[in-house]
Amino acid sequence: MNSPAEPTARAADPAARYRVRTQPWYRPVGAEVEQFEAAWGARMPMMLKGPTGCGKSRFVEYMAWRLERPLVTVACNEDMTAADLVGRFLLDRDGTRWQDGPLTLAARIGAICYLDEVVEARQDTVVVIHPLTDHRRVLPLDKKGELVEAHPDFQLVISYNPGYQSLMKALKPSTRQRFGALDFDYPDAEAEAEVVAHEGGVPAELAARLVQVAARSRNLKGHGLDEGISTRLLVYAATLIARGIPAPEACRIALVRPLTDDPDMREALDAAVATFFA
Ligand SMILES: Nc1ncnc2c1ncn2[C@@H]1O[C@H](COP(=O)(O)OP(=O)(O)OP(=O)(O)O)[C@@H](O)[C@H]1O
Ligand SMILES: [Mg+2]
Repeated sequence: MNSPAEPTARAADPAARYRVRTQPWYRPVGAEVEQFEAAWGARMPMMLKGPTGCGKSRFVEYMAWRLERPLVTVACNEDMTAADLVGRFLLDRDGTRWQDGPLTLAARIGAICYLDEVVEARQDTVVVIHPLTDHRRVLPLDKKGELVEAHPDFQLVISYNPGYQSLMKALKPSTRQRFGALDFDYPDAEAEAEVVAHEGGVPAELAARLVQVAARSRNLKGHGLDEGISTRLLVYAATLIARGIPAPEACRIALVRPLTDDPDMREALDAAVATFFA
């Protein structure tokens, strides 16, 4: 970012800072890459559904790199307003100045706009995406009196975790039915071990044992656990082991303690760890 050529490059390419420059490592688990590519070809808005830490964000980064599109990511939350997405007038020394929000910017530069955890946002915020996600592909900036026509390469992608979110927070049908959807889940054991070995820097055999601990925890989902151990936590455990923490301790730190405060459940998970890491 501090090379002297950078400012010029940035002026020439407003998308420069949103480009994914190095290939993110992504292990496909099904036909999701081809399916997403077909959807992108039609600029179809897409919804990625799946539990926490199963690879949704990594997948989007990988697809943005593969399709050579800039990626604008927005972490949604309930305090977010429509202005946070579309933009607002700011006051500065010279008076007022309009500043595009991330959605507007993405629509202008032809980025993939990734709204992470979209159900966290309030309904009146989410509706601003509607005109962008049907044949109109426009974004009205009411305050500014401008109608932004989306760049031909613009695509909207949203993610959400259907598991633990309350029904109250479900997406409205009029929002939901603007998207094609890809289901994500933790990869099968072989693929997940590959991910854990690669990302955590541990041997395949050790990664496979971590994956078996996760499988036990996932069987406890709904029986006292909201979610099983995610691929992300497995990568954490592997990372600690690779940095010299003994495996049973690494599993306690990265797999058991983050997951639950319930003493009985912790004991059950510790027992699962002990089965695979004596
Ligand atoms: N198929 C995969 N290929 C490569 N890495 C993966 C894959 N699946 C999971 N991972 C690893 O798991 C980690 C967590 O994945 P990611 O951040 O994409 O989860 P997520 O589904 O976006 O979770 P959340 O819903 O909590 O945001 C990644 O940083 C990566 O190390
Ligand atoms: Mg994510």
